Amino acid sequence: MTKILVLGDIVGRPGRRLVMHKVSEWVQEGRYDFVIANCENTAGGAGVTGKIARGLLNAGIDGLTLGDHCWDQRIFLEEVDELEGICRPANLPEAAPGKDRLILEKKQTRLGVFTVLGRNYMRPHVSCPFLTADRLIEELAAEVDFILVEVHAEATSEKIAMGWYLDGRSAAVYGTHTHVATADARVLPEGTAYITDLGMSGPHTGVLGRETQPVIERFLDGIPRRFPVAASDVKLCGIELQLAQPGQAASSVRSFVWPGDDRD
Ligand SMILES: [Fe+2]
Ligand SMILES: [Fe+2]
Repeated sequence: MTKILVLGDIVGRPGRRLVMHKVSEWVQEGRYDFVIANCENTAGGAGVTGKIARGLLNAGIDGLTLGDHCWDQRIFLEEVDELEGICRPANLPEAAPGKDRLILEKKQTRLGVFTVLGRNYMRPHVSCPFLTADRLIEELAAEVDFILVEVHAEATSEKIAMGWYLDGRSAAVYGTHTHVATADARVLPEGTAYITDLGMSGPHTGVLGRETQPVIERFLDGIPRRFPVAASDVKLCGIELQLAQPGQAASSVRSFVWPGDDRD
């Protein structure tokens, strides 16, 4: 059985700190074979840098993914090609730097990981996430034991449609980007583990990880302003996956929140 922890968007320093602290502890305990996390909001809430990515990978995360904020830190454009263990969304224009997929190997298990950006209510101009997923799954199928597909999207309908579209062809389809965990984790009929959104690994006192007051003020007066990262009620959100050999079938998927009701 392959055990995988997948964490939703890590937000700012509070998110990074708790993720690094807990992941290194859990990896040392041997709780998971792989840990995957989305890091698009790790640098002050917007984007990532090489230094931050290396810190997360050194703490025990095996694979980092990104989203629509991937180029918010301009320095990262120069750094991304030198980093192992991180991939940018696969359906960005081909000219974008960075890898469009990860192949991770541990204990003779090979895991393929990629992200597609949704197109509804999203700003980036990207190619079709469904056809991109088709292509990558076809290319990865002969190379890996399991494929994890992240749908970084705003619309729940687009994510749910992707789950059904890929059911039986990937081990898991999970959503990110909305920063709010959904209560619909399940294994679909053909064996693909699915959840509409993993939720956020960051401070839950604000609005999607940012301080509450400036966000409310922006809604009231419409004037752009800085949105500092919030500080408290830091929680890690995601899923725990159990995958049995062979094939693209998940044995179980469980929503994960730490600290949660079953904290230890
Ligand atoms: Fe996003
Ligand atoms: Fe995000």
